[in-house]
Amino acid sequence: MMFKSLGITLLTMASRSRSSRGLSTEYTITCPSMESETLRNEVHKHCDSLDLFLTRKPVSIHSLTAFSELGRQLPSDNAPLILDSGCGTGRSSLRLGELYPESHVIGVDRSIARLSRHIRPDRLVEQVSDNVWLVRAELVDFWRCCRDQQWSFVRHYLLYPNPYPKKVRYKSRWYAHPCFPLLLQLPASEIIVRSNWLQYLEDFRDAVDIAADYNKEFSIFQTSNVERLIPSGQDALTNFEQKYWNAGEATYELVLTAKTADV
Ligand SMILES: C[S@@+](CC[C@H](N)C(=O)[O-])C[C@H]1O[C@@H](n2cnc3c(N)ncnc32)[C@H](O)[C@@H]1O
Repeated sequence: MMFKSLGITLLTMASRSRSSRGLSTEYTITCPSMESETLRNEVHKHCDSLDLFLTRKPVSIHSLTAFSELGRQLPSDNAPLILDSGCGTGRSSLRLGELYPESHVIGVDRSIARLSRHIRPDRLVEQVSDNVWLVRAELVDFWRCCRDQQWSFVRHYLLYPNPYPKKVRYKSRWYAHPCFPLLLQLPASEIIVRSNWLQYLEDFRDAVDIAADYNKEFSIFQTSNVERLIPSGQDALTNFEQKYWNAGEATYELVLTAKTADV
């Protein structure tokens, strides 16, 4: 199956042969996936212990301040909201702002170094174009503030999140992190995840299904096939994507769609 999204051709992985998945490059991750049993146990554990995790992890002052400041800066015009979690330098947030001019785009990252291309060092929030705001905050804290204040997003992007490929760090991957059920609870019509590691996206998708099967409270998103992105001359959405495309590294996308349309 082939179709277009954001000007990029997508190929359904199920319809492709193994040899057509792309040549390996210096960026290709070849680590084995998590055992399915381990993934299931982790997701179940995190579904059971979300409240405890959040109780033990108070929202950091700087993230709370950033969230409040953003709330003051955003126009109260009910424009659709787009969240770009882990936006890095903000390249993708600015691009999304151009692609969706009717929306307000919020890019969030904790790295001052990455954000400093657009945010002044003494700022937690900066409006960087007519409809784009960049925010320096911890994602778990920011997601929690959004959920608690009932902010909802038409699209939530997680573009090239840190994959933590080594087994010893797998609990840092978003789908195996204690905050994973919170990520599912953050209202969004769609979650779009991209990575150069196909296995990361397949495990992410499986984790969404595991959470949904385990507890209907977390049965929020419909999963889909992981698609390979085929660059067709246009600009990449992010710096990591550009780096991978320049090197000939394959990149993939997973789209999760809210089961109810009214988020
Ligand atoms: C691999 S980079 C990808 C950046 C960008 N999306 C791109 O594709 O070029 C991952 C980004 O997520 C940010 N990040 C990772 N964990 C985070 C957290 N807990 N809170 C906020 N930002 C985080 C990092 O600072 C980094 O900028």
